[in-house]
Amino acid sequence: MAKEFYNAEIVEPQSVYVNLMVAIEGGGPAHTDNPRFQGRDRTNTPMWLLRSMLSSGLFNDAEIVQATAIWWSNDVEGGELRYWPNGASAPAQVHSANMANTALLGDNHCMFHQVGAVGPHDVGSLRVTPGATLGPVGDSSGDWAVDDLGECVFRAPLNTYRLSVLWKADMYATAEERERQVANALSMDDVAERFNQDLAERGSSVRFDPANLDDPELRATIEQFHPEDVPVGALRSVFATS
Ligand SMILES: [Fe+2]
Repeated sequence: MAKEFYNAEIVEPQSVYVNLMVAIEGGGPAHTDNPRFQGRDRTNTPMWLLRSMLSSGLFNDAEIVQATAIWWSNDVEGGELRYWPNGASAPAQVHSANMANTALLGDNHCMFHQVGAVGPHDVGSLRVTPGATLGPVGDSSGDWAVDDLGECVFRAPLNTYRLSVLWKADMYATAEERERQVANALSMDDVAERFNQDLAERGSSVRFDPANLDDPELRATIEQFHPEDVPVGALRSVFATS
């Protein structure tokens, strides 16, 4: 299916992971997934820079096209998926109800998407520390519990938890295209060169120094010139502070 959707000869599966969600009283953030480029990914490049590389359009030749498939295992209270297949400025589509055993294949690195509030809706948004665990309670109830700092903060039958599986793969139109991309992997100096040309053309005195990626002025300047889109009609994120 991914092959057909992308008209690609080569599909290189990269990751599969399971997402469990419960008790989030508010939308998740509307977002795009982090892009990857030949030679540049989260292991060697700050996240803000990867995102700016995408929104700048200066690195399109090196961007790795990634397919994402999401499959839902069960129906829960809420937990719909909003997605913007026609761009951030066009209305969202919503996949809700009867989600069990359905799947959506798309380019989640360019297409905004957002998860709606997940029930149960009478316990608020449960905040836990990164050390929280989820596991079967082990009594006759069949419940699974979230334990945090030695306390059970939530318990419910396993089918209360929204369970989805995400699959991601790198896509290449042809073997030659893959070879061309791999041979032109970006070094941080390549990234600097393209941004510096762009900054100069825009009349900015700021310059991209690979040794000083933490410089707040560099980030602010690049993000000002290449802002990310804001999708219309997004739900308020549970993480929003204003
Ligand atoms: Fe995502």
